[in-house]
Order: sequence, then structure tokens, then C-alpha cells
Amino acid sequence: MSAGLLATVGLALPAVAQPAHPAEVTPPASVPGGEPGDGLALTPPMGFNNWNSTHCRAEFNEAMVKGIADIFVAKGLKDAGYQYVNLDDCWALPQRDANGKLVPDPVRFPNGIKAVADYVHSKGLKIGIYTSAGTKTCNSAGFPGGLGHEKSDAQQFADWGIDYLKYDNCNNQGVDAKQRYRTMRDALKAATATTGRPIVYSICEWGENKPWEWAGEVGHLWRTTGDISDSWGSMLSIAKQNLPLAKYAGPGHWNDPDMLEVGNGGMTATEYRSHFSLWSIMAAPLLIGTDLRKANAETYEILGNHEVIAVDQDPLGKQGTVVSSEGGRWVVAKEMADGSRAVALFNETDRPQHIATTATGVGLPRATAYRLRDLWAHKDYNTAGAISATVPAHGTVLYRASADSRWASYPPAAEPGLDGTALTEAGAAAQVDTTLTDLGRTPAQQVSVRLTGPDGWRIKATSPTRAASLPTGSKLATRWQVTAPAGAAPGAYDLTVSADYRSPGGQKAAARLVSALHVVVAPPSGSSYASDLPWLSALNGWGPVEKNTSVGENDAGDGHPLTLGGTTYAKGLGVHAPSEVTYYTGGRCSRFTAQVGVDDEEGTAGTVGYEVWADDTKVASSKTLTNADPATALDAAIGGAQTVRLVVTDGGDGVTSDHGDWADAAFTC
Ligand code: GLA
Repeated sequence: MSAGLLATVGLALPAVAQPAHPAEVTPPASVPGGEPGDGLALTPPMGFNNWNSTHCRAEFNEAMVKGIADIFVAKGLKDAGYQYVNLDDCWALPQRDANGKLVPDPVRFPNGIKAVADYVHSKGLKIGIYTSAGTKTCNSAGFPGGLGHEKSDAQQFADWGIDYLKYDNCNNQGVDAKQRYRTMRDALKAATATTGRPIVYSICEWGENKPWEWAGEVGHLWRTTGDISDSWGSMLSIAKQNLPLAKYAGPGHWNDPDMLEVGNGGMTATEYRSHFSLWSIMAAPLLIGTDLRKANAETYEILGNHEVIAVDQDPLGKQGTVVSSEGGRWVVAKEMADGSRAVALFNETDRPQHIATTATGVGLPRATAYRLRDLWAHKDYNTAGAISATVPAHGTVLYRASADSRWASYPPAAEPGLDGTALTEAGAAAQVDTTLTDLGRTPAQQVSVRLTGPDGWRIKATSPTRAASLPTGSKLATRWQVTAPAGAAPGAYDLTVSADYRSPGGQKAAARLVSALHVVVAPPSGSSYASDLPWLSALNGWGPVEKNTSVGENDAGDGHPLTLGGTTYAKGLGVHAPSEVTYYTGGRCSRFTAQVGVDDEEGTAGTVGYEVWADDTKVASSKTLTNADPATALDAAIGGAQTVRLVVTDGGDGVTSDHGDWADAAFTC
């Protein structure tokens, strides 16, 4: 928090600032002089919040909160830095009591909130609570909000022993945001002065009023976007909105791209690693959003990765900045307190990508060689300066790079690569090229490379798979023939490039790249509805792409009949911007046609644009369409295309209410 809050909150006033006011508590002795703000949230808050896993459902209750606190201790998450156990919406009864006080829901919290707070504190942890800077919270059940009750509610929270408040934005009656959030800040200040227990203040106005420009004086973190949901598209769009805000973050004042979805089931493990890597390099709050009582080993492995957490929690408190992002190949670098750089190589695309930067490119001083530590593989290498990897689709390689005089004690980094087709028809031989490149200052020796696939696949090398020595920058290139069995079902299959090699000192090292090869079938000849064909990939901004219904809400199968301008359609795709659905056409189709527009299930706010891409060429598009537009016909010539991509954009004004339909979508082949 910046000096402005320091003056207002009064928890950590340096002696020179102002005469002490009797109502202000003495600064905690542990806050070192000269540190910004009130000494709270000097690194991004870490903990748990129930919302992403339970929403308002009954399983959000005392047993859950205590269970999470127990697990934090038992599973080492407390030791890893997770500290806050936070209650979101729906903890209260809809009515205040006769004295205007908030009443905990007696079914969920039969012993009240204070008892839960005491339990959480007894574990050496902290507890957070939620309300809205409005007359009611966001849930439609209409729980009481804090607007007009700031003093009393803040006092009640303080009396319960609350350590963290998330203050939402619903039902705000149009009152100025800065005023609403400052009023609660002042109320928290006054209340904590009576208890001596500081409260981290989380501003949740979804980035609507550019809080990064003013909230450093008001709270310790502020949401920068709308709500996250448990999908790749949602996570990606939020990351993209939060990344440019790096300069506003620092100790005591953080950008908050919303809570984690890791473990909730809507993304792959690769995507969850990207989510966790990105949040960490963005110095985002790490609030676990899955019910840890049901979490699997992979979820614990991701959330408990100490080396990734250390990137997030680095005391310098810098948010990583974008070094480059061409073609969905993202390089994000974060300066660390020890002079090293955390570097995320993030692949937004749906095929493997070579993503590259250099040590000096991320701000390290010039040197003969560097240490490169892979924070997911937990291994050290040396590099002559290249920081690169071929990153699987939707994956992230997270490195920590440093000028380190011991570089020669680590084996050279070697980058496996894979080129060639990502698509193959069952029974037909496909050509795949692999490479292994030495990035190290030292040579990679006794190199051998393998390519493996699923059982029953025929894979044979048609050029050498071994090299005696690969000096700095040189490659071993190998060509392979890969044949999926004739009966292989359409879908994605893993091919793995594995390389073994040794450092000049004889130390063993290995490198691996897993990449998908899609078994595809071209549409039959004649006309076929898109919704009757398997797609290659489908990205959607809200919930999954639906076949033959609108997108509806966030769950699969919750759409309504496709309806444009009052006309319903039996066939088509229901999507939500930003969306991309890709089909394999194998050069055998000539036309794609559809009726497009904003589905009638949305009010009036939706604005979408349609594009049809034949391989890398845009072959049809619409103007920006709204609910007022009737169904618009698209007719695209797609002759010769291997793939056709159906894209829905947000019309340039954000994705709210952007429910788009590809009604009657059909291929002629
Ligand atoms: C808003 C917030 C969410 C969650 C819900 C609860 O949507 O942005 O994070 O707190 O309210 O109703």
C-alpha cells in the first residue's frame, strides 16, 4: 500500500509522519521502518477461498472451513506459505438482526463465525470474510451488503477476529466506487484500532473503475477483471487483461486476476500448470479455489510447488512483464530480489511452439554462461545465453535464470523440438521431424533421441538418432515415419520425444517433449452439419461450446434452442466470445455456410463478430452483430483448406453477454 493509505490507516505510521492520534494503535514492531504502507501483504496474499469450488451450495459450511485449515497444516500447504482461509458469499442470513448486525447462517455455521475464526487461528492460520460494497451481495438470494453499514459491519468482523475482507461490487446503487471503497477502508481502520488485529483489504470491483490507478491508497489488492471460470478460455482472457498492469503492482498493493481454478476439473493438468505459472509470475494473490478435501495428487503437486510459489512470493514484489507475445508465444520475465529472473515461456496456441528469449533479453548482465533452473522439473542446467523451449500446446515452461559462477557444474540445457504435421489420417504414414539443440555453453555428449507413441502405432526413424557430441547451438535432426493403426479413433494422441545425453564430465541428463498428434477424418462427401462432425479443437469464453443449442450458462448441456431474431434452428453450434472451433477438412471441402448472430437468450448487451478461416486465410466475416440484427448469412469458399476455423470475436467491447450462434452451420465436401 502506498503512503496515502499509510496516512489513513494509521497502523504503521513512521515517527515522522503525524502526531499519534489516540484512536490509532501503535505500529506493530515487526514492520521495518521505510517499508511501504501498513506492512500488510508485503507479498501477494496466499490462502483458500471456497467460491470457485462451492459457489453458494450447502457444502460451504463450518466443516469445510475447518477441514481446509486442517489440510493446510497436515499437507504442508501452511509451510508452503498458504495462510488465509477465506469465506466468500452466502455465509450470512438474508436479514440483519434487530440491531442491524449481520447474522451467520445457523445451518452452515451453527457455532457462528467467531468459533470458526478461533479454530483457524488455533492452527496458526488467518481467516477472511466477504461482503459487498452495495446494499446486497452478488448472490440472488439477497444477502445483506455493507453499503451504509460500514462501521458496524467492520466492527463486527474485527470482533470476530477476521484478518481479511473481500469487498465486492454488486448492488452498489451507483455510488462512486472510490467513495464506497474508501468508506470501508476507514471503517476497517477504526475497527482494527479497537482490536489491534490488522485486516487485509481486498477490493473486488472487477476492474470497472481502473482500481490500479487509485486503489493503492485504499486496499492491498484489487480485482482487475470479471470473474474467472474453470476453463482455458476464461483463464487466458483474464491473464491477458492482467499482464499489462504490471507497473501498478508492488509490496502491499497487488493486481488480483481472481482466484485459482487449479483442481476443479475444467482444464488439463498442463493448463493448470500454466494457470499457476502465470499467476505466480504476475505476483498474483494465490487463493486456492478447489475443495482440497477432494483434491488429487496432481493438484497438490501443482499448488505445493515451492519453487513456483517462490516466484510469486519474491520479496522484491515485482509483477512480471511481457517481453514478447507474437503468435501466442509469450515470454514473461520477473525480476527477483536476488538478481535472477523468473522467465515463463507460455504457449497460448494449440500446437507445440518454439518460444525463445535470451539472458540479456530478460535483463541479466552479459556473462559467459548462466544457470537455468526448470521450476517444474526441479533441475539445473547451464546455458550459453539462450532461454528457450519447445512448449507443448497450452503449456508453460518456467525457468529461473541467473548469472551463477557454478554454471559449469550443471549439464548443458538441451531443447527437444518437433515439427511436421499435427494431423494424420488413421493408417496413413505421417512425417514427423524432431530436433535436439544444445543450448549450453558445454557440449551435450553421447546424445540419443527416441520418439514414442501409443501402443500399436508404428514409428520408425529414417535418419540418425544418435550424435557423439553436440556443441553449443548445434542440433541433432531426425526424421520419423509415424503411422496410426487403421482403426484408431479420431482424437489427440501423445507423441513423446525423449533425449538422453551426458555433460562433458559424464553427468547424465535427459530432456522430453510431449506433443499431440491428432487422428482426423475428413467429412464425408455431400453436405454435413458442423454439429454432426468431430471438431479438432474448441475454445470458448464462457462454458463449453454446445452442439445444437445456445451456449446457455457455464455447464455442459445447459443451453437453449438456437434462436436468432425469433427463429429457432435445430442444428448448429452455440458459443461464447472469444471462441474458436476448428474442423479438419483435409482439402476435400468447398463451402461452409451458416446463419449467425447473437442468440436471443441474451438481453441487449451482446456484440459479436464472426470470421471463417481456411487454414491461414480469412475467407468470410460479418460486421459486428447485436441482438437487434436478424440472422446474417455467411457463405465461405474453403476449397483446398486442410482446416477451417470458426472464430467469434467480442466485437471490441469485452465479452459480456456475447452468446453467439453458428446456426445451420454446414460443410459441403
Ligand atoms: C462476485 C465476485 C465473485 C464472488 C461472487 C459471490 O461475482 O466477483 O468473486 O465473490 O460475487 O457472489
